[in-house]
Amino acid sequence: MAANTYRFPVQVVFGEGCLKEAGAFVKNFGKSALLVTGSGPTSKCTAVDTLNDILAGEGVGVHHFAEVEADPSVETVEKGVAFAGDNGCDFVIGLGGGSPLDAAKIIAARLTNEGDIASWEGIGRIPRRSRPLICIPTTSGTGSEVTWVAVITGGKRRQKMSIVSQNLYPVLAIIDPELTYSMPPDLTAAAGMDALTHAIESYVARRAWEPTRALSLRATQLAYANLERACTDGSDSESRHNMALASFMAGMAFTSAGLGLTHALAHALGSHFGISHGKANALLLSHVIRFNLEVCPELYRELAVAMGLNVAGIPAPRAAGEAARAVEELLSVLPIPSDLEEAGVARASVETLAAEAFLNTRLRSSNPRDTVLEDLVQVLRNSFGN
Ligand SMILES: [Fe+2]
Repeated sequence: MAANTYRFPVQVVFGEGCLKEAGAFVKNFGKSALLVTGSGPTSKCTAVDTLNDILAGEGVGVHHFAEVEADPSVETVEKGVAFAGDNGCDFVIGLGGGSPLDAAKIIAARLTNEGDIASWEGIGRIPRRSRPLICIPTTSGTGSEVTWVAVITGGKRRQKMSIVSQNLYPVLAIIDPELTYSMPPDLTAAAGMDALTHAIESYVARRAWEPTRALSLRATQLAYANLERACTDGSDSESRHNMALASFMAGMAFTSAGLGLTHALAHALGSHFGISHGKANALLLSHVIRFNLEVCPELYRELAVAMGLNVAGIPAPRAAGEAARAVEELLSVLPIPSDLEEAGVARASVETLAAEAFLNTRLRSSNPRDTVLEDLVQVLRNSFGN
């Protein structure tokens, strides 16, 4: 039997208003911080002002790199590295959704490592520990603040590259659910479906075991019960709190357990059609559950129970099917397209998308069911609806 592993080197501070108390945590990393944010509204949000005040109070200078686009590119990361170098930054703070946090991770790694970022694609290819990195999420979805993964667009085929390394872990995650209150419903829905996908995929993944499954199961329960409410009323503090917890706990689970086919296919959809990561996962998740359920029906039954479904006395494969149906029901009340057709994906691209996802051996190998190329084609076809 292969050894089970669990890794978690990140210090986490969690709670409403905790950003205001961040001074005690951020003062020990140096005198000059690189702040990495998106180029949109986040770059001017009140959290940036709060952080500036806190760091100024601790005598730390802030150099703000506000140029990260959705699905950040290698070129943007290199620009951030040069900006940090010009300003003598000692440490890095990423603030925002998955894109700025992932960009901050790779900038921090590039500050201590030479070489071509595209050559880091895969697992364990970053030789030295990153500059100290603090991650502050303003969405509840990616869990990037507590994982060893960053997704950057680049390489010869301009695809989404997953860079995975022990050297990418942030030293500190500051998770303040109040920072998510201003997220609009569509972003809340897409990010939340990413968190739910992390929870469900990590629960059935091949490297999952008791501690990761405990996290995945609770994250599934929290995300399923709270996502609709967080979308309907963004200022509902209870659902925002629970979605922030779900995102963080699912991240803690999948960083050790791995993910699966939904993510392999979602990366291909993002690379070819620019569909946001959370939305792509949302459109694929139920179809991947139906594909996988024959190899682990009991696990999906447990997920169905976590989602609050009454599956007592129902045979495991049917109960697993109910879990897929429940995901579709949730999707039907969220501001997200219901299938790939509605999302604007061309049916003629199915083979290309499947081939791209098939190359993602890391995610395919953590999926519970073995796959051949035709399986991916079929899952994509099923995701187009009727
Ligand atoms: Fe994800």
